[in-house]
Amino acid sequence: MRLLEAKGLTKYFGGLAALVDVDLRVDAGEILALIGPNGAGKTTTFNLLTGFDHPTKGKVIFKGRDITGLKPHKIAGYGLSRTWQQTILFNGITTLDSVALACRLHQKPRFFDCLFKTPKSRQDDSAAVEQAEEILEFLGMGSYKDELPFNLPYGFQRILGVAMTMATRPELMLLDEAVTGMNPVETVMMMDTIRKIRDRGITILLVEHNMKVVMGISGRICVLDFGRKIAEGKPAEISKNKDVIEAYLGADMK
Ligand SMILES: Nc1ncnc2c1ncn2[C@@H]1O[C@H](COP(=O)(O)OP(=O)(O)O)[C@@H](O)[C@H]1O
Ligand SMILES: [Mg+2]
Repeated sequence: MRLLEAKGLTKYFGGLAALVDVDLRVDAGEILALIGPNGAGKTTTFNLLTGFDHPTKGKVIFKGRDITGLKPHKIAGYGLSRTWQQTILFNGITTLDSVALACRLHQKPRFFDCLFKTPKSRQDDSAAVEQAEEILEFLGMGSYKDELPFNLPYGFQRILGVAMTMATRPELMLLDEAVTGMNPVETVMMMDTIRKIRDRGITILLVEHNMKVVMGISGRICVLDFGRKIAEGKPAEISKNKDVIEAYLGADMK
C-alpha cells in the first residue's frame, strides 16, 4: 500500500534549485533510504515532507490526503513525524518524563485541565507515563528511565530522540542521520532498533550517510544528486548503478 507520495517536488532558494521535480513513493511497511552527496537536497526533502518548509512546486500526499503546506504539528497529527540530526534533550527532567511529555503533547491537553489538574488531566498524565514506559521498554531503554538524558551514553541519547518521536504515534517515521557520531556497537544497536520499529508496523524513511547501514537495512534506496533523483531501486541494484557510483559512492563501492 502506498503510504506517502511526493509528486514533482521542487524547491528554489532564490535562484538556487535545491530540489527539482522529484517524485518519491513510500510503501507501508518498508524501510526506504534517501541518499546522496552533501547538498543533494535530502534535508530539504525532509523539510518539505514534514511541513518545516514549503515546496515551490509539487505535492505531498500522505494516506491519500494532500498535506502540502500544512503545519508540522498538523502533519505529525496525521501520523508523519521526524527525528532531528541533533537530538534535542530537555535539561532537568528524566528520560521517562521526556518521553511522557512528548506523549502528553500528542494528547492535545487543554489548558484548563492542566492548570487546575482536573481528573481528566491526571488520567492523561498517568496514561502518558504508561505509554512512555512501554516505548522505553520496547527500545531497550527501560533501565535508563530515571536517568537525566545528558547522563545517558551517546547511543541512548539518540535512541531517546527516536523514543520521543515514537511518542507521537507515527505511521511513517523520518530518521535524519540516525547513526551519525556513533561507534560501531552503537551503530549496530541503532540498526536493530530501526528494524524493530519497522516490525512494529511503523514505516521508515531514512537519510543516512553510512553505507553499511543503508545497504544493511533498506528495502529500497532513492538517490538524489544536485536536487534531482538519479536512481531508485533495491540495494543490490543501486550499488551497481553507474550514475550512482559516479555521483556519490566512488571507489569504496566498486
Ligand atoms: N534555507 C536555505 N537557504 C538557502 N539555500 C539552502 C537552504 N537550505 C538548503 N539550501 C541549499 O539547498 C541545497 C540542498 O541542501 P540540503 O537539502 O541541505 O542538502 P543535503 O541535506 O542533501 O546535504 C544546497 O545547495 C544548500 O546549500
Ligand atoms: Mg542534510
